[in-house]
Amino acid sequence: MEEENRIITTNEIAEDEHEYSLRPKALSEYIGQQKAKENLKIFIEAAKQRGESLDHVLLYGPPGLGKTTLAGVIANEMGVNLRITSGPAIEKQGDLAALLTNLGQDDILFVDEIHRLSRSVEEILYPAMEDYALDIIIGKGPSARSIRLDLPRFTLIGATTKAGALAAPLRDRFGVISRLEIYTTEELATIITRSASILGIEIEESGAIEIASRSRGTPRIANRLLKRVRDFAQVMSDGVITKEVADHALKRLEIDNLGLDASDKRMLLTVMEHYDGGPVGLDTLAATIGEESDTIEDVYEPYLMQIGFITRTPRGRVVTRKAYEHFGIDYRKTENDYTISLFDEKE
Ligand code: ADE
Repeated sequence: MEEENRIITTNEIAEDEHEYSLRPKALSEYIGQQKAKENLKIFIEAAKQRGESLDHVLLYGPPGLGKTTLAGVIANEMGVNLRITSGPAIEKQGDLAALLTNLGQDDILFVDEIHRLSRSVEEILYPAMEDYALDIIIGKGPSARSIRLDLPRFTLIGATTKAGALAAPLRDRFGVISRLEIYTTEELATIITRSASILGIEIEESGAIEIASRSRGTPRIANRLLKRVRDFAQVMSDGVITKEVADHALKRLEIDNLGLDASDKRMLLTVMEHYDGGPVGLDTLAATIGEESDTIEDVYEPYLMQIGFITRTPRGRVVTRKAYEHFGIDYRKTENDYTISLFDEKE
């Protein structure tokens, strides 16, 4: 299935527009990510006390965990403007120069998918981050010359799903590097309850927990499922989201009790049925199920690894016993390798 068509996609889709009204503005309203939050609170406080701009911040972790939301919270706490763009959107050096020269003092430039910046754009980003200066070349050939433009002091917040894909010189220029973690069910239930209250939806605690436990550790998915479950609650009962209503709605949406949808199942079953549970190389797997390797790594795997259904080994991906048990398929692993038989042999 096309990634955009999965209700549990972590990509931002059109119907997430309302997400903006659900986004917390202050750090105190931002739920979860305790470690990142506590550190950021100190850095923000210290920068404000000194009357300086915040050091450049790199946020990394799986998609949908609220990196843009957190950038908005940081801008709000610092009392500065936020400009949002992304790596692929900045095609030429001139695009970045235009963005940077339009920033005000201490403003924040948020660059999503920063690992996708081109080399030539990265090149002018380095002096901008370090010296708040732009080196621009005017003219061509022998008469070309370089001029240096001063920039206001600004903060770059970069977001990436893969810190490892970032060029080392770029990574080194971030003063703060924060890893965002997949949310717990309790945190997601709190987010769902908060969103329900903003949207005027009545929800019981057990209903929030039911939706939370199927949201794959991701607030964006939690908020999306909340809206779909509300539709069922409204049409099929009295509008209140109870555990029963949530369970019924999510079954109808073909999201199982762990939040797995048809695409996850297909991938896991492919490894079980075609590769005896693995190990299978990422590219081989991608080719077999007709997905991009990147999509598997960034979208499917973080959650499947979190719930212990898939492990990464030097020889490739392996589906675990836990996954076999979830699907009610017999699991048998030999002693010296990862070969798994789907059928128990008679002793
Ligand atoms: N909405 C999306 N992410 C959130 C978070 N971490 N806290 C509160 N509301 C959210």
